[in-house]
Amino acid sequence: MAPDCPEEVDVFTVPHSRMKELVHKYIDMMMNTNFSDVRNLTNMLENLYNTFKEFKTHEQIENKYIMKRLKDKLKKLSIKNTAVCNCHSDNRLTEMLLLVKDGYKLTRKSEADRMNYGTQLRKELEEFTEKFIPHMEEEESVFQPLLMKYFTFEELKQLKNTVIQQHVQQ
Ligand code: FEO
Repeated sequence: MAPDCPEEVDVFTVPHSRMKELVHKYIDMMMNTNFSDVRNLTNMLENLYNTFKEFKTHEQIENKYIMKRLKDKLKKLSIKNTAVCNCHSDNRLTEMLLLVKDGYKLTRKSEADRMNYGTQLRKELEEFTEKFIPHMEEEESVFQPLLMKYFTFEELKQLKNTVIQQHVQQ
């Protein structure tokens, strides 16, 4: 949570708690998956696919309801801030979804192929996580204060409600 941010206007912490819960779940899942076992692998891939779809939805909600509004507000005030435009440009969600989809093809391949895939998936997930957690922290520590600086308390209360509703509806 951003320092000195009242809960009513904190647009990031609640959705991020869910995202962090999903991260912990897949870390745990990866440690317990036997990639040589087709059923175990398929079950893990299904969970991981749903997780990354949820990350993607989270990003789309932030883009539409938070970043665009912040960007428009800054533009109106003639303030330049490239971080607002670029904060979701390098998070690899689409690549990760494609990698997970590739995993389904392995049900018809050899055990060695599945084990190799497991090694690659673990590595890619580690790299993704190393960026995703700081990314969320950046949103909380950099973008939340910007929102509080340029939006009224009432506007942010409404924005938080919209963001939460959108996450619940997905
Ligand atoms: Fe809240 Fe952009 O992840």
